[in-house]
Amino acid sequence: MEIEKENQIISNLLAEQILERYISSNKGKIALATSFSIEDQVLTDLVLKIDPNIKIFTLDTGRLYSETHQLIDRTNEHFDIKVDIYYPNNFALEKFVKEKGSNSFYESLENRKQCCDIRKIEPLKRALKGIDIWIAGLRKEQSLTRTNLKIIDKDLLNENLKLYPLLNWTEDEVWEYIKKNNIPYNPLYNKGFSSIGCAPCTRAVTVAGDIRSGRWWWENPETKECGLHLPKGVSNG
Ligand code: ADX
Ligand code: SF4
Repeated sequence: MEIEKENQIISNLLAEQILERYISSNKGKIALATSFSIEDQVLTDLVLKIDPNIKIFTLDTGRLYSETHQLIDRTNEHFDIKVDIYYPNNFALEKFVKEKGSNSFYESLENRKQCCDIRKIEPLKRALKGIDIWIAGLRKEQSLTRTNLKIIDKDLLNENLKLYPLLNWTEDEVWEYIKKNNIPYNPLYNKGFSSIGCAPCTRAVTVAGDIRSGRWWWENPETKECGLHLPKGVSNG
């Protein structure tokens, strides 16, 4: 696939048209990664309308909010699906926590990346076995590191393609879709959160307008990607 050309072709399509284009020609080889964010809930609704059997998976890091766990069950019930859940490798996690402690991510960037590697990146690799395109809910508006993304691009880390159908959506548009379609969402959004990941590494937004200011708030803005979505040219270490 010629990435530049492909992005030109899809640049004026609606999210559902973009999804239709890739889902119908990649059955069994395309999957949605969900963290149960409002963006992922919109995507879940959209992809299931195209293919009720599409693979939808989540990475349960073991450190999620209980609100997120409740939402997993509510989402399964709402859409009548069973999301695939991937856990970290227990041997790697047991060794890491034994050596470094439960919350070593606050102590150094190295520890934080190691924790994300064990709890997210390795399980992601397993989740993506046999998958040519993975769909994710990134939006340009979310962060400095996301403004130059393309709707479809090569994933250098996982050697497949990543698709961001909501890349150009605003937060208001996402909420409008959620409300209009009565889709369940994480109640933490009602408490000032606007980006929700692991509990110890997420808090309510601290800088008005900066959607991801509550994620890894003790780090520099340019390091605030966990490795699932590293910008081009940046290694996870
Ligand atoms: S993160 O890299 O900072 O954690 P963010 O929370 O913005 O990412 O989510 C961006 C997209 O990455 C989500 O829309 C989803 O597609 C994917 N994603 C993030 N966390 C997970 C997770 N735990 N399980 C599955 N997909 C995830
Ligand atoms: Fe570990 Fe925090 Fe990364 Fe979650 S976000 S995997 S708790 S460092």
